[in-house]
Amino acid sequence: MSTFTGLANPWKGKGKANGLESDFDDLTPAITYRHLHAQHFGPKDPLRAIALCDSDAFYATCEQVRLKVDPAVPLVVRQWDSLIAVNYPARKFGISRMDRWDDALKKCPELKIVHVATYKEGDDEPGYWEKPDTRTHKVSLDHYRRESAKIYNMFKEGLPGTEIEKASIDEAFIDFTRPVREKLLERFPYLAKVPDDAPDGLDSTLPPPPPISWDGLGTLIPLHPARDNDDAEVELLEDDLLTTWSDVALSIAAEMMGRVRADIHAKLGYTLSAGLARNKFLAKLSASYRKPNDQSILRNLAIPGYLRPMPFQKIRFLGGKLGKALAEEYDVKTVGDLLSITLEEMQRKFGEESIWVYEILRGIDRTDVKEKSATTKSMAASKNLTQPVAKASEGSHWIRILAAELALRLNEARDQTPGLWPKSIVLGLRQGWQIYRSKQAPFPFSRTVTIDLIAAAGDKLWKELIGFDDSRPLPMKITHVGLSFTGIASNESGQQNIEGFFKDSDVSVKAEDRGTKRKLHSIVEEKHASEEITECQPSRSAIATHFDCGRCGRRIHISDDLAGIGIEDYIKQQALAALRTEHEDFHLALDLSKLPEDGVNAAKFRPDPPQKKFKKPKSKPEPKPDGIAKFLVKK
Ligand code: CTP
Ligand code: CA
Ligand code: CA
Repeated sequence: MSTFTGLANPWKGKGKANGLESDFDDLTPAITYRHLHAQHFGPKDPLRAIALCDSDAFYATCEQVRLKVDPAVPLVVRQWDSLIAVNYPARKFGISRMDRWDDALKKCPELKIVHVATYKEGDDEPGYWEKPDTRTHKVSLDHYRRESAKIYNMFKEGLPGTEIEKASIDEAFIDFTRPVREKLLERFPYLAKVPDDAPDGLDSTLPPPPPISWDGLGTLIPLHPARDNDDAEVELLEDDLLTTWSDVALSIAAEMMGRVRADIHAKLGYTLSAGLARNKFLAKLSASYRKPNDQSILRNLAIPGYLRPMPFQKIRFLGGKLGKALAEEYDVKTVGDLLSITLEEMQRKFGEESIWVYEILRGIDRTDVKEKSATTKSMAASKNLTQPVAKASEGSHWIRILAAELALRLNEARDQTPGLWPKSIVLGLRQGWQIYRSKQAPFPFSRTVTIDLIAAAGDKLWKELIGFDDSRPLPMKITHVGLSFTGIASNESGQQNIEGFFKDSDVSVKAEDRGTKRKLHSIVEEKHASEEITECQPSRSAIATHFDCGRCGRRIHISDDLAGIGIEDYIKQQALAALRTEHEDFHLALDLSKLPEDGVNAAKFRPDPPQKKFKKPKSKPEPKPDGIAKFLVKK
């Protein structure tokens, strides 16, 4: 196979001085006709183009749009005494989410303050009240969820052929690989056919790409961030010489991304910021390079310059205990500092799973952009109580408020997908973060979703967990009440097939009773520890946390902590993908060790060799400290 790329990797050689050149050795892979004409694009595809698109100051913009306020007016969204969103004009006054609302007002007297909508008992719908009270009201994010769905739908309509994964209420990953491939072949028809004189047939590398005009496509993250302006021209010149087909792919994705961002702004009033790169991790990281209302493009060759100086604790999942442990263990600050730590060393100290951290630091992320299925979802409504429940009979009050939210959301979901119904209802009660008790019950089908129906089921669960006898002491100090629907599925043909629907749900409720009852706890997602935020998440079963090896039959799990509450799906996917690669390589290493000399060469040309050539530790890693996951649990 030819390895001619038409380009030298500028990081090879240049990096030699600090001995790091091999840290980023996959930036200019050979791109062949075979890659270009592949029908399936895996995570190793060298022409992958992924975006993360995030709404600017989302909740604040939702209120600005709803109230038709001039976007230049400083505006914040208030929840009780704190702020949950600050628009960009308000940020100019030094106002941040950390401020109390009255301090923010001091910084900017003309600040427009909007209190988030709230439910109160007895109301079917949330409203915007003059003086909502945390003792009687519960925050509603329904409006933001609806606006979020509108934006998502515009992505879907405006970006045919892409894969879109909603990552949170205001952001989504978009995989442009397929439509970009089509555009490439349309614009450069000479790529459609392998030239007759191509030395390696389908495996020949593509001819050098044309120069790219990046005008109007966004902000290019520079190849050499440290250079001053005088070097800008040199850089431009160099850029052209170093252009790869992967850059062309990113530029086409940027065109599409820019168009849909402009459409969304024109139609709905939201500005969005996006990052474009070869994988999800880098796309997410690039999205905040320039905000608001811009998109940033991270070409492969710019990855080392972007990652190395970055304080690694800024990377989301290295921001917590793991980042701290790494910083203390090695007395380091930046991603670059961590690159000298070998995989073996990292795995010895932090467990086998740390391979995904090792890879992330090198800009490698193999996770797919996967649309979450519209069904098999759960819905959770919850309330953190500033004053713990004082009497057993207070339960009904909170259950009714939560039931109103669930009723509204289920009815809304049914507008889109008729026949949606949850298999179970779960009541979860928490005392701080330590104690959690929950109870679930099957939720019988009914044609209409009413607050009464849900509240009655919730009350029944409360009765079983706590009772309603005010003369007896409460069995726990309740600081959090959550009510959720799980196993929401659609009876596709609406009402015709009710019987079959019942059968299905019975079967799986039984299955849940048998084995996974405890796991249902994780469905009550807590996004932001101190605030009451409810999210519609796919139920735990939607995201795989293990895989079965076809070769040795072992089931490999990501650790429980990683699989649990508060860890985003894409992080779970990353961990699982890394484990899978590690495991495949383990088999490869075994195979190689068994092969005779010339067999080793044959094995090198396996059709689908693992991307990384790291070595498995020769001996088993020393006693595994509980694994990296212990550093990733919520504090
Ligand atoms: N949010 C929240 N509490 C947090 C983080 C986020 O309530 N700890 C809400 C915010 O109100 C926000 C939305 O989730 O509007 C999206 O969060 P994020 O994208 O982090 O912030 P934005 O406000 O959208 O600001 P940015 O422009 O920086 O993305
Ligand atoms: Ca945002
Ligand atoms: Ca966000």
